[in-house]
Order: sequence, then C-alpha cells, then structure tokens
Amino acid sequence: MKTPGKRPPKILIRHAAIQKRVREVAREITRDFRGQRIHLVGVLKGACFFLSDLAREIDLETSLDFIAVSSYGKTKESSGQVRLLKDLDTSIAGLNVILIEDILDTGRTVHYLLRILRQRRPKTLRVAALLDKPSRRVKQIECDYVGFAVPDEFVVGYGLDYAERYRNLKDVCVLPRAATR
Ligand code: IMP
Ligand code: MG
Repeated sequence: MKTPGKRPPKILIRHAAIQKRVREVAREITRDFRGQRIHLVGVLKGACFFLSDLAREIDLETSLDFIAVSSYGKTKESSGQVRLLKDLDTSIAGLNVILIEDILDTGRTVHYLLRILRQRRPKTLRVAALLDKPSRRVKQIECDYVGFAVPDEFVVGYGLDYAERYRNLKDVCVLPRAATR
C-alpha cells in the first residue's frame, strides 16, 4: 500500500472486496434496467474510481457525465452549504439517470443534487453510493444501491480524499485522527 503521510491509513475495505462488491452492484443495475439505456452521473472527484469500475461491469448501453459540488475543502466537517461548481455537459431529460457518489455522510450533497436533477425531468433518477455512513445522516435519502455501510470514521482511498490526498489508494482506509493534525 502507498503510505504518503507520516501516519499510514489503516485498511478498512480491501481492493479485492471493493471489486467484488462493485461487480455485484453492476449486476443489480444491469438486471433492474434490462433492455434500457442508462446515464451515469458521477460526482467529482470522489466518485470517479467507483464510476469507472462500475461502468465497465454494467452490461447495458451506458453514457456518462460528471457534476461537481463544493466539498469539505481542507477540513473534515461539512459546512452544510452545497454549491454547484461544474454542471453537466448534456441534458438528462428522458434518461434513466443514476447519480454516482463516493460516500453518503450527512446526505446534504445528494439531497441537493437530487433536487436540481429532478427539475430536469429524467425518466428515472436513482442513487448509487460506494459507501454509506448511516449514523451521520441529517437529510433523509433513498439510496438505491449501496456498496458498503461504514462506521462513523473518516475514510480515504479509492477516490475519497482528505485535503485532496489519498484518492489513489487502492483500498478504503481509515484516517487516524493523528494524521490530520
Ligand atoms: P454529505 O453531503 O455530508 O453526505 O457528504 C458527502 C461528501 O462529503 C462526499 O461526497 C465526500 O466527498 C465527503 N465525505 C464525507 N465523509 C467523508 C469521509 O469519511 N472521507 C472522505 N470524504 C468524505
Ligand atoms: Mg471530498
């Protein structure tokens, strides 16, 4: 494992387990939308590894787009305010849209994105999140596809960052509190 900080993150979910679960989620999506086209909307930047692995395991006609919202910045706490930084490139009207997120924490980000995407009249709108921290939820979210439920710890790797670091770790790891000081 790459250990770019002084305190190496502790492995929570190994790469092999992630790959296996991603294949299972892809099979579920393939079954749910059999015979139809889907449009994956990834939330930058955290969801990019999950989206690219998931998309390659889905056996349907699939298109992709990306959206970006304001993130935690250099802190670990959400400001509670969500702001659109980069909009979609193309219309989603009439499409089977699946919003792809790295992690559902308070739920504020997905709540905000579902609100703006719903206004654009997709045919269907679902959510897939690699990780879910249900104990932290502030906004009630219906998540259709969840990779793993995780405890209330700060996690990094496989796309997830702390201050833009650790995204390229293959495993999902817990960042020890001491590593953030
Ligand atoms: P929410 O709006 O509170 O649900 O937070 C969602 C966003 O916060 C995610 O897309 C992540 O970018 C970030 N986030 C939440 N928890 C973690 C974590 O444990 N590690 C890294 N990023 C996180
Ligand atoms: Mg982030």
